[in-house]
Amino acid sequence: MNYKEALHNKIFEIIAQAAAELGVDTYVIGGFVRDLLLQRENKKDIDVVAVGSGIDLALKVSELIPHHPKVQVFKNYGTAMLRYEDMDIEFVGARKESYHFDSRNPVVEDGTLQDDQNRRDLTINALALSLNASNFGDLIDPFKGLDDLKTKTIKTPLDPDITYSDDPLRMLRAIRFATQLGFEIEQESFDSISKNKDRIKIISGERIVDELNKILSTPVPSTGFILLYKTGLLDLILPELTALNQVEEIEGHTHKNNFYHTLEVVDNICPNTDDVWLRWSALLHDIGKAPTKRFSKKQGWTFHGHEFLGGKMVKRIFERLHMPLNQKMKFVQKMVIMSSRPIVLAQDTVTDSAVRRLVFDAGEDVENLMTLCEADITTKNPGKFKKYHNNFKIVRQKIVEVEARDHVRNFQPPITGEEIMALFNLKPSKEIGILKEAVKEAILEGEIQNEYEAAKVFVIEKATALGLEIVK
Ligand code: CTP
Repeated sequence: MNYKEALHNKIFEIIAQAAAELGVDTYVIGGFVRDLLLQRENKKDIDVVAVGSGIDLALKVSELIPHHPKVQVFKNYGTAMLRYEDMDIEFVGARKESYHFDSRNPVVEDGTLQDDQNRRDLTINALALSLNASNFGDLIDPFKGLDDLKTKTIKTPLDPDITYSDDPLRMLRAIRFATQLGFEIEQESFDSISKNKDRIKIISGERIVDELNKILSTPVPSTGFILLYKTGLLDLILPELTALNQVEEIEGHTHKNNFYHTLEVVDNICPNTDDVWLRWSALLHDIGKAPTKRFSKKQGWTFHGHEFLGGKMVKRIFERLHMPLNQKMKFVQKMVIMSSRPIVLAQDTVTDSAVRRLVFDAGEDVENLMTLCEADITTKNPGKFKKYHNNFKIVRQKIVEVEARDHVRNFQPPITGEEIMALFNLKPSKEIGILKEAVKEAILEGEIQNEYEAAKVFVIEKATALGLEIVK
C-alpha cells in the first residue's frame, strides 16, 4: 500500500532529501500515520525515525530549510526536534529497548525499523510510512495495524504482558485510544491490563492525569471510566470513585448507584462544555457520598454534608495525583461544595432571594454551576425530569434579571465600613461587622436595592435600633 499522495507537505520531501544525503533509511511513524489513515485531522506532532542518528538527520533537515530552524537536541535521549510551519517534528534513531522491572527508564540500543516498531505501544501506533526514495510513501506494517484500524481493535505488537509491563502508562493509553477512537480492546490485551494493573503505581501522577484529561475530553468519557473500572485500574487511581459503586438495601430501602450516576452526569455535561475542569467537577461531585452515607429508620438513606466533605477530598485527590493546586482546584472544589444548591431551588418555587443568594455565593461561576446541576438530573421519572429542567430554566432567567437589577455577582458592599464608622464616629468594632452583614442580608433578601442611598438609610435605622447615635 502506498500513501505518497498523503505526504504532500514539503517537509516530507525535505526529510527524504536529508535522509538520502546521509544515507539513512527514514520513516514517519506513530500517531501521525495512524491519524492520517483514519482520516482524522492531521496531527501537528510528527515522529520521524531514522535507522541511524536522529540528531544528525534533524541537523541536516534544518540545513535544507531556507531559514534553518533551530534544532533542539536532547542528547541523553538521542532525539532532536525542530519546528516547521505549525508542526513539531521529532527525530529519533531506531531503537531496541528493554526495561527494568521497577522503572520506566529503558536501556536503549540502536536497532532496525522492525526493532523500533516492536517496542511501540499499539499496532495502530506502530505503522510507518517510508520516506526513502526507493519506496517513498510505502506503508510498513509488520503487525497488521491497518487491519486493526479497520476492525477498530486495540492490540499490542508484542505479547501484551511485555508491552504493558515495559511501560505501564500504555495501559491507560490503550483505554484512552479505545475511548477517543471508539475502538474495542482485544480480549488478550484487556486481560493483560487487568493482570498488570498494579504496575501503574510506578507512573507519575502528572502522566496519569494527562491520560485522564484526554479521556474526559472525549464526547462519551464513561466508556473510558468503565474500562478503567473493569480492569481494576480505577480502584488504584481514583478509589474515591469506585467506592461509590454499591447499592445497599436496608429494610427495603435502597439508594441509587452513585458511580454509574456520576458517569451519566459526566456524559451529560459533555455536549454543554469543553472545559475539562468542569468535567472533573462532574466526575467528583458526589465523592463525599460514600463516606457520609447513613441509614436511619426516620430518614432512610442520607448523605449529610457530602458536598463539604467532597470539597476536602478534591484537594487530597489533586495533591495525590500532582494536579495543579491553583485556581483550577479551587474551582472544582467550589463546584463540588455547591453542587446541591440549585437542585434545592429547582424542587421548590424559585424565589428571587434564593437566586440572589446563589449568584452571591457562586459569583463568576454561577453559569458553570447551573451547567453541572442540569447534567446532574438523571432521574428516569419523566415528570420530575421535566419539572427540574423547567425550574432550572426559570433559575437561569432569574439569574439574568436579578443580576441586571442587583449586581450581586461580584458583590461589593454599597456602603463601606469606613463610611459607617464616620457616620457614628466609631472605631473598628463588632458593631461595624454586624451592620455590614445586615446590609448584605437586606440586599440578598430583596429588602433594599444594592445602592448607596438605600444602604445608608438602612444602616442608620439599624444602628439606631442598636442604640448608636448618628454624628451631626
Ligand atoms: N509510544 C509508545 N509508548 C508510549 C508512548 C508513545 O510506544 N508510552 C509511541 C507510539 O508509537 C506513539 C508515539 O510513540 O504513536 C508517539 O507518542 P505520543 O506523541 O505520545 O502519542 P500519539 O500516538 O502521537 O498520539 P496523541 O498525540 O493522541 O497522544
